[in-house]
Amino acid sequence: MIHVNASSLQFHLQNDSLSYIFHVLKNGHIGHLYFGKRLHHVEDFSSFYQEDERGATAYVYEGNNQFSLDLVQQEYPVYGTTDFRYPALHIEQEDGSRISDFKYQSYRIMKGKPALQGLPATYVEDEQEAETLEITLYDEVTNAQLRLLYTVFTDYGVITRSASISNHGNKPLNINHMLSCSLDFFDANYEMVQLSGSWSRERHVKCRALQSGVQSISSTRGTSSSQHNPFFALKRPETTEDTGDVYGFNLVYSGNFLAQVEVDHYDVARASIGINPFDFSWTLEEGESFQAPEAVLVYSDQGLNGMSQQYHGLYRHRLARGMWRNKPRPILINNWEATYFDFNEDKILHIATEAKALGIELFVLDDGWFGQRNDDKTSLGDWFENKNKLPNGLKGLSEKINQLGMQFGLWFEPEMVSKVSELYETHPEWVIQVANRACSHGRNQYVLDFSRPEVVNYIDEKMAHILQDCSIHYVKWDMNRYMTEIGSLALPAHRQKEVPHRYILGVYELYERLTTRFPHILFESCASGGARYDPGMLYYAPQTWTSDDTDAVERLKIQYGTSMVYPLSSLGAHVSEVPNHQVMRVTPLSTRANVAFFGTFGYELDVSKMNEQEKQQVKAQIAFYKQCRSLIHDGVFYRLRSPFEGDGNETAWMVVLPDQSMALVGHYQVLAKPNDGFKRLCLRGLDKDQRYSVQQLDSYLKNKSNVEHHHYGDELMYAGLNLGISFSGTNPGLVEDSGDFCSKLWVLQKG
Ligand code: DGJ
Repeated sequence: MIHVNASSLQFHLQNDSLSYIFHVLKNGHIGHLYFGKRLHHVEDFSSFYQEDERGATAYVYEGNNQFSLDLVQQEYPVYGTTDFRYPALHIEQEDGSRISDFKYQSYRIMKGKPALQGLPATYVEDEQEAETLEITLYDEVTNAQLRLLYTVFTDYGVITRSASISNHGNKPLNINHMLSCSLDFFDANYEMVQLSGSWSRERHVKCRALQSGVQSISSTRGTSSSQHNPFFALKRPETTEDTGDVYGFNLVYSGNFLAQVEVDHYDVARASIGINPFDFSWTLEEGESFQAPEAVLVYSDQGLNGMSQQYHGLYRHRLARGMWRNKPRPILINNWEATYFDFNEDKILHIATEAKALGIELFVLDDGWFGQRNDDKTSLGDWFENKNKLPNGLKGLSEKINQLGMQFGLWFEPEMVSKVSELYETHPEWVIQVANRACSHGRNQYVLDFSRPEVVNYIDEKMAHILQDCSIHYVKWDMNRYMTEIGSLALPAHRQKEVPHRYILGVYELYERLTTRFPHILFESCASGGARYDPGMLYYAPQTWTSDDTDAVERLKIQYGTSMVYPLSSLGAHVSEVPNHQVMRVTPLSTRANVAFFGTFGYELDVSKMNEQEKQQVKAQIAFYKQCRSLIHDGVFYRLRSPFEGDGNETAWMVVLPDQSMALVGHYQVLAKPNDGFKRLCLRGLDKDQRYSVQQLDSYLKNKSNVEHHHYGDELMYAGLNLGISFSGTNPGLVEDSGDFCSKLWVLQKG
């Protein structure tokens, strides 16, 4: 998989779908040659490389008017010599110099893939699954060593990259800027796809043509954020969901990031991603090392769906870990929207009893069970139960839920503290803060300083005590505010800009400890919904609460965008009540479920308040999800119609079992259209030579063998699925079938 030409120092990483090629430049830096569709290996790729004289630039060697870093494609550019674009690395030395000159020293090929110290990363289980190339470079003035890691996977169209630096000198170094990867594309005829939004409308798909200069997305909020996901793709203008070249960049990191494309004066596009250099620096003392997070690069020639499928497969199998990686995820009911803070044991047991009768498998007790918490003003940090609400404690409640035949899950917000709390009274210095400055609040709460090991130890002890003592199968780990006035009272002045990264390392450390100690617990991450939906979190918590917005129509966009990178098995999706609590929209119960089916399914309402007919409907939904759960979690997902295109009125997607024997198709229409034309939907991923039975969900639920339609895969993919009749003024039907917010689901089975 990795070819090395030791004399010309060219490196070719190759698998069945891609090639990634680079070489050592004449000044010892690393030059980029090619990333894209697999090429034959040849001994010499130097025809991809050019040098020439250009006006008004700077050259590296006296007497040589051709070799300028301004003119060549690079792999990990550093600041200071003849490249004027943004570098991947910028180091400040004690004498004030910011120049570095890392020259190639050696290479090493390793079977498999090494872990990254203290950081989440993709992994292998067998060393045949991947090969890793380590390139070592050395700067003789600072005595710093730079290690670039490149892993090529056998079964995925993926290259992972990361970088680390070690100080072998006797003076401290200050890292101002250290990205995980940088890569120069030969031309700039690309569109940049990003996932941006805000609380309650996370990860909307946005797309723009690259322009000269810098285009970037980033976070300075202390989390990866709901404003921008640490992901972007570069696609050709003609690339669609199904065809054409696309390159994905995703950072395995949950804190402040920068993702940037700089188009230079020769239309070379420098794509880079890593920790946000803004308000970051890291002092590297003698003998110390710094590891940058991993970037996951995907190449696909099968459009955005092809790219997403690579991410989905890799993240499902080689990012998520532990016993829950492969286990069916329980259907849950969460009491947040059902009760908010207003509950007691009786109320919870009442809802749980009803939920059990409907087939729900896990009850999740959300915010409000601890300290004196009856609203969002108090008690974060006081992780002991409120005996007024739960007279038998969490232990008593969890046991009673278990006796009903359900698993029990619990909400925590480990990284936060309320001023009205015993923890804050004892340790006001444990809050992220800057001396002599006021501390802003978010939702009346303050951020604990997870850069301090004693804080992590304290929260670890409190959580472990509860998880040990009670019968808990699931934890929802929430995080409900962004960071402000960032500083730590425990760190010296010159290390204050290290706080956001140290904080995230503290969060990872706590996750690592708890997931190791309680391997049977399923963790779901959450940050006001989806403000920390990133691969860093997925390494520890295989599910994420996608968004606080549970409205079925809003969820179409949110789930469509999220699926660009993240698999359905990670995507928390619940049916909630109407009018919806976020947008007051009233949608049919069937549509709410038809959207939520495409994720890890659950309910977020008081099922005991539903009427008998609704309960029967919910029962059927649950039974159906149980039948299709492995298809949804392990299947290959295709986006078919985008809510971000045209008038956005229609969305469609489908999921197909890897052996193509079964598929589930969802079609959604926001507003009804009078007298609309006949419509068809071209499906994807089926076996063109096989016949499929095609049943709408209602008929499938009534009688699986009562199949009205059979079609070959080729008919369904090339001629399309008949979407049926919509309201035409002559066929008044059910609102659910043809009114506003209607949806249809089809089950396809081979044979
Ligand atoms: C924000 C989460 O996204 C909600 O689901 C809920 O857990 C609340 N926090 C509780 O405070």
